[in-house]
This record gives sequence, structure tokens and C-alpha cells, in this order.
Amino acid sequence: MTTFADKPAPTASSADFIALDERWSTHNYHPLPVVIAEGEGAWVTDVQGERYLDFLSGYSALNFGHRHPELVSAAVEQLGRVTLTSRAFHHDQLGLFCRELAELTGTELVLPMNSGAEAVESALKVARKWAYRVKGVPEGQAQIVVADSNFHGRTTTIVSFSTDDTARADFGPFTPGFVVVPYGDAAALAEAVTDRTAAVLLEPIQGEAGVVVPPDGYLAEARRLCDEAGALLIADEIQSGLARTGTVFALDHERVTADLYTLGKALGGGIVPVSAVVGRADVLGVLKPGEHGSTFGGNPLACAVGRAVVRLLSTGEFQQRSTSLGAHLHTRLSELVGHGVSAVRGRGLWAGVDLAPGGPTGREASEALRARGVLCKETHGHTLRLAPPLVIEESDLDRGIDALAEVAGRPA
Ligand SMILES: Cc1ncc(COP(=O)(O)O)c(C=O)c1O
Repeated sequence: MTTFADKPAPTASSADFIALDERWSTHNYHPLPVVIAEGEGAWVTDVQGERYLDFLSGYSALNFGHRHPELVSAAVEQLGRVTLTSRAFHHDQLGLFCRELAELTGTELVLPMNSGAEAVESALKVARKWAYRVKGVPEGQAQIVVADSNFHGRTTTIVSFSTDDTARADFGPFTPGFVVVPYGDAAALAEAVTDRTAAVLLEPIQGEAGVVVPPDGYLAEARRLCDEAGALLIADEIQSGLARTGTVFALDHERVTADLYTLGKALGGGIVPVSAVVGRADVLGVLKPGEHGSTFGGNPLACAVGRAVVRLLSTGEFQQRSTSLGAHLHTRLSELVGHGVSAVRGRGLWAGVDLAPGGPTGREASEALRARGVLCKETHGHTLRLAPPLVIEESDLDRGIDALAEVAGRPA
């Protein structure tokens, strides 16, 4: 049993906190050995007072940095009023949040949820019901076409169509009804989309796979194939959306519109979990009372923070920062190719950096960066994913890239 004596004293070292996590928290992550106590903007401070540049931003959940003052004050203001009503009653933030988010995204209806996986699950359920009730797919036969190397979350249905063995092993039996095609291969997609296809679900840029940008024209072709087959295009913008690539949606770069978008991460401003499916009213409109929901989805605190996020995005400032700082990031990263880096991909202030064979692994590079005061995380063996907060100063961005140049260029 835990007693107060077990609690680390305020002066406890990182090792004490890590030992507590190791003892009491399920080992479903492998974090870097840093114990964060505070954050502000692009910087965090650990329990020993060491400062680090955050080059990960909670996988894009912290697009506006840590504790953006406007987001914090929206949260504090709402904390002083009401935080949860359940959806058994109306409250005065939900409709405003939904209207403002729909206006920002050019969509018609909003289904608020909490986590990213829940938003994806919700979109899948909506697409299936729409296929049966509107498209006329025979009961039980709807298919959803997805891409390999996808990452859409961790629920049983979502890992059913993952191609990552670690994410799937021992979690079956799986949900049927998914067809997996190679990402970026328009011909394979054309073959997979049939009159039984309810939807094609794609990340416009695959984050977890290593910030993989599909070939030019692929997403437009996906749109055309969906139109031809009367299927829905669902864009998972949970990581790529909300200014990360310089636009509200990454899909905007391709001038392509999806029927449904899933949003999460940055929608909660790094303060509370907020996700949503946004899109066509005739598609989201298939849901009727009792068919789907969540106790916390669309709660007053989430909506108040979400509204403040929408306000920040409606100025265009963060999209602009991502575009200009992203151009700088990619110029500098491209100079590292051949110097310990074998390839760089991405868009805006978001990059996948492949470390060259013979150099450090992704994990070793993350640890070496941490030792130089920069926090980021590997994805797969030899790729680093960089997603600094969009509030970062250019000089800090350079500081992080300098550290990366040093780490990548060293022999393992
Ligand atoms: C594209 C994408 N979809 C869905 C998810 C799942 O979000 P959550 O972890 O909030 O469930 C993620 C998380 O990394 C993601 O990157």
C-alpha cells in the first residue's frame, strides 16, 4: 500500500520519479529518462531545474507550445464556471465550439469526442452506417480501405487494420471489414475501391510512419476514386492538422476536400483531450440519439479550450509561422543529408529525419539530443520525428538543428 512516506520529497531526483513510474505505471511506453516538472512555450524544465527545448510537441498536441496564455486563461475561466454536464443536458459552450470549428474548417457539422482514437472510431461507425442507409451497401458488407503503415490509434478495431506487428500481436480477434493497400499507390487504391466501399481512410501525411508525404497527385486521385465509387474520403488530420503543416488541414496543400476529417491533439491546446469528427452534414447526420456518444465528449471545459484554439487558428499566425519556420527547418535539414542523415521528409514545421546506417539509431540519437538539451523521439529504428511547437523562436529552432547535426554526424 502506498503511504505518504513513499511519496518523493520535493527535492527528489529524476531517478526517484522514474523508479516510481517503473514500479506503479504499466510499461506500455519506453520514455526518455527525463522528468518534466514545468513547461512554457517551446521549453520544459525537469525536476532538477535543467531546461530542454521541446522538439516533439506531444506529437503535435502542443502546436501552440506549453501553457499558451490565451489557452490557459480560457481554461481557467471555464474552470470557474462549469466543467462537465454530460450530454444529458445542454450547456453554453457546445454549440459555439461546434459552429466556430465548422467555420474554421469549412465543414457543416461537428461530432465532439475526446481522444484521437475515439474520433477515428466515430468516423468509422458513421461511414458504415452511411454506407448501409444512404449508399445502399448490403447489410454487413461495408468495407473501409486503409493504407499500410497507417497509425490511427490503439483501440481493438483500429489495430485490426494496422500493419505494425507490435501494435497487433496478441490483441485479436480483430474487426473485419478493412482492406489494406500500399500508401501512395494510386493504382492499388483504384483496385481496392468498389461499390461495397464505405470509405477510404488516409493520413494526408503519415506521422508515425516517419512523416511520409505521398506522391504528388495521390490524394487528389483518392478523392476522384471515392467520387467515382460513391465512397467517402476520410482524412485523419489528428497529427497533420491545425497548422502543423502551414494550413488548417494538410489536405489543403493538395486542394482536396474530404467528406469527413478527424481532429484531435492540438484541438485540446495541450490542456485537455479534445477530438472531433468534422464534415458533411448529410454524412454525420446519419447518427441519431442513443447510437453514439461519450460522457466527456463535448464537455464545457473541452469546448471552452477548443474555442480558444479555434480563435488562435483563425488569425492565420500559426499557419504562417509553420510555413516560414518550416522552410528554414527543411533548408537546414537538407544540408545534413550526406552528413549522418540519409533522407528528410515533411512539410511545414514537421520533419522525418532518417539517420544514415553506421551512425546512431533513432533511440541513441534521441538520448544524445536529450543530453544536449533537446527533446525528440525516434519512430521506428532509424528515424527521428521533429515537430517543434509553432511558437518556437528561430534561434531556438537553430539551436535544436545544430544539436541534431552534431549527433547525427557522429559514428555510433
Ligand atoms: C494520425 C493519428 N490518428 C490517430 C491518433 C490517435 O490519437 P490518440 O492517441 O489521441 O488516441 C494519432 C496519435 O498519434 C495519430 O497520429
